[in-house]
Amino acid sequence: MTDLTPDLRALVAAARAVRERAYAPYSAFLVGAALRTDGGEVFAGCNVENASYGGTICAERSAVLAMVANAARPNAPMPPRWRPRIAAVAVFTDAPTLAMPCGMCRQVLAEFERDALVVVANPRQARVLPFAELFPEPFVLAE
Ligand code: THU
Repeated sequence: MTDLTPDLRALVAAARAVRERAYAPYSAFLVGAALRTDGGEVFAGCNVENASYGGTICAERSAVLAMVANAARPNAPMPPRWRPRIAAVAVFTDAPTLAMPCGMCRQVLAEFERDALVVVANPRQARVLPFAELFPEPFVLAE
């Protein structure tokens, strides 16, 4: 963990802290995620499970929702195609092996990333990898 840059270390700390707030009564698998936008803002989210199971929201998507709802926006008039951009995202679990973002979260992160770095961490280790390596060919709408 010590070889992380201070920025990434702070992101891991934010993911670790928000993990404590996870609502995971069914799996008892607590996950925290924190992302930094290219504007330097940090947003965090945890997994929120549901009795239907399928209604469960992962920590990564939870952080993305917080970003969209709260990130600073350009002054009016809003560019119609403006979107926040993720520069880095950290995911924290207590799993024995590092837990990677699920496929659905990768697609959702892809909507907002531009050369993002991903850090997956647990209390014992951290791994940094480029998002493009994690999800090389996302679905995009042809424009
Ligand atoms: N989970 C996440 O929060 N992120 C992932 O990328 C994979 C899985 C959550 C969903 C569920 O609450 C628990 O972990 C077990 O699957």
